Amino acid sequence: MVFREDILAGKVAFVTGGGSGICKGITEALMRHGATAAIAGRQAPRLEAAARELEERTGKRCLATPCDVREPATVEAALDRTLAELGGIDIVVNGAAGNFLAPASQLSYNGFRTVMGIDALGTFNVCRAAFDRWLRDHGGVILNISATLHYGATPMQVHASAAKAAVDSMTKSLALEWGKLGIRVNGIAPGPIADTEGMSRLAPGDLSAKLASRVPIGRYGRIEEIANLAVFLASDAASLIHGTTIVADGGAWLVGTPLEY
Ligand code: NAP
Ligand code: COA
Repeated sequence: MVFREDILAGKVAFVTGGGSGICKGITEALMRHGATAAIAGRQAPRLEAAARELEERTGKRCLATPCDVREPATVEAALDRTLAELGGIDIVVNGAAGNFLAPASQLSYNGFRTVMGIDALGTFNVCRAAFDRWLRDHGGVILNISATLHYGATPMQVHASAAKAAVDSMTKSLALEWGKLGIRVNGIAPGPIADTEGMSRLAPGDLSAKLASRVPIGRYGRIEEIANLAVFLASDAASLIHGTTIVADGGAWLVGTPLEY
């Protein structure tokens, strides 16, 4: 552990996408540093299994709260259950996302809407519902998981790039409006992270090694490297960091993604 192990003692985290991949890693790191957690996603059995695994690994409590971030009523129910069972929501992580490779010329209307719905609308839905229920009166930390796709432009990613640009914009707007209430809002923009669903979709097979060799540090990131950043941003050590999205990508976006790859 790089941080003191009680740095988040007594905090409660609500993590969308916490049943898998990067956000499961973030949840584990928050729990290892003292937080209890609720994880949200659509697939209840996978979520339940992840919650049990996280409890075993950390010794802290983890609640599975299934919901679809596109459906505000399900988000509200998940947050209500978290409040009833864990007693608060100090850290909200918006990690739920959907993505696939598709050229803009072949992407259906509904394909674009679906990814915007999960990433962008879903992030707003969760922030808004958590604000009403807890954050407005108690303050807290919001972490929006973004990406670097839209810093330049990324082929076959018009949907996810637009969605993450919206997420980054929301990070700034919410920071502006909610800062005086003691709500700190920031984003994390991971680059390519090894052993994740995201990279298996965006860089299948041999492409993965080819893209990894282009990263200035010579490799993909690791889930725990993003998780450590989340612990830092959730902690008081980051008390002056507000309204910004921190890139953790080993310099990858400086190089960009080739048009033909
Ligand atoms: P992942 O394991 O597939 O995580 C996505 C999560 O979102 C899943 O747990 C999924 O659970 C949940 N989800 C999807 N649609 C949902 C919905 N409508 N409502 C509630 N939950 C929903 O992917 P990952 O690669 O770890 O990515 C995690 C985050 O990091 C995402 O925000 C992604 O954009 C970002 N990111 C990843 C990379 C990378 O290299 N992997 C790079 C940059 C940014 P259910 O299926 O159960 O709903
Ligand atoms: N290429 C092009 N279009 C695709 C696609 C692909 N690989 N996958 C889905 N779509 C389109 C569908 O065709 C559909 O559009 P249509 O009605 O015009 O045919 C639209 O997207 C919605 O698909 P659907 O499967 O009904 O959506 P869903 O809400 O059940 O699932 C997804 C959402 C598509 C994002 C799904 O891949 C998912 O659940 N992803 C979560 C995990 C993930 O993406 N992890 C990586 C995070 S970076």
